[in-house]
Amino acid sequence: MTAFRILVKAPSNIALVKYMGKLPGGVNLPENPSISMTLSNLATYLEIKVLPAPSFSRRWVPEVPSGGKGDSPNLDRAGEEKFLAHFDRCVSRLSDTPPTGAVEIRSANTFPHSAGIASSASSFAALTLACAGLVARDRKTFEEKFKTDGSFRAELARLSREGSGSSCRSFDGPFVAWEKEQVQVLPSRLPPLSDLVVVISSGQKKVGSSEAHARVKSSPHWQGRVARAGSRFAKLGQAITGGNFQELSEIADADFRDMHQLFETAVPSFSYFAEGTTQVLDFIEEIASPSEVAVTMDAGPNVHVVVPQAEEAHWKRKLSLQFPEYPILVDREGMGAEILLIEEGEMK
Ligand code: PMV
Repeated sequence: MTAFRILVKAPSNIALVKYMGKLPGGVNLPENPSISMTLSNLATYLEIKVLPAPSFSRRWVPEVPSGGKGDSPNLDRAGEEKFLAHFDRCVSRLSDTPPTGAVEIRSANTFPHSAGIASSASSFAALTLACAGLVARDRKTFEEKFKTDGSFRAELARLSREGSGSSCRSFDGPFVAWEKEQVQVLPSRLPPLSDLVVVISSGQKKVGSSEAHARVKSSPHWQGRVARAGSRFAKLGQAITGGNFQELSEIADADFRDMHQLFETAVPSFSYFAEGTTQVLDFIEEIASPSEVAVTMDAGPNVHVVVPQAEEAHWKRKLSLQFPEYPILVDREGMGAEILLIEEGEMK
């Protein structure tokens, strides 16, 4: 096999109607449909390099890819195995010929570990895309197809979902809807948006998302969750297409609170709220109306403050003045995963 290198970038995404709860028997198939906003600079850079070798091997190397940005994650044994298992899944699904050579995978996230931002969406999207590039017969055609063919991106998104559910929404943007196996971009008349992430705590999560997906079903509040999220999904789709920011804001608010209520009423219950979380939420409620600011939270204590880009500096200033102790990561809506480079032939 010729020496080969691919470098890709995949952004994270923030859900406005949350994916919470998996269908039994599926591979990360959601109980309810979700919609997210794709980010741009909070991203994973990932490189796959293949060196000629008599037999096939693959390993994850904890180093920043050359040409990439950020910090390489500290994957524990289980994380590394999950990552390599997804590599194997992608290769076997996308190619009928067995791979050859010594494969090295390097990745780095632009958001520090300590930012408390889940990286599985961006990492698995990046890994899926890089694998597809690796096994493509004609790499030029592959690059062109990935750029121009939305159904091809959706196909890779479906495969990526099997590694990490929410990663399927990172292939496109700015707004992506995911329902069962289907992933699709929503046309938007909203102004361009920014996400200000108020980092309340950077510690390791007590309950990981896989555990959260399972445990929410023990809550009495689970009853009706699929219908509630389904109806918000339909309304949010219309709000995005119709350019109604206030509606987006009200739906996002209702849905993240619904999800956190599931956590807090699960058996056993758990909570991601920290003291700072409540302070930031209360402050925003006091000073901003839903027509100006949308708020959401993932399965963590950090608060995502979504505002029109034109107002980004204003809200960043207000938040930093009020909460100088909490770092704020500023990102903007984005268009999804990208191929940054493909090199074939001799490599140093
Ligand atoms: O993709 P997972 O299994 O890490 O689940 C993500 C779950 C949430 O981030 C809480 C919500 C979502 O839709 O992204």
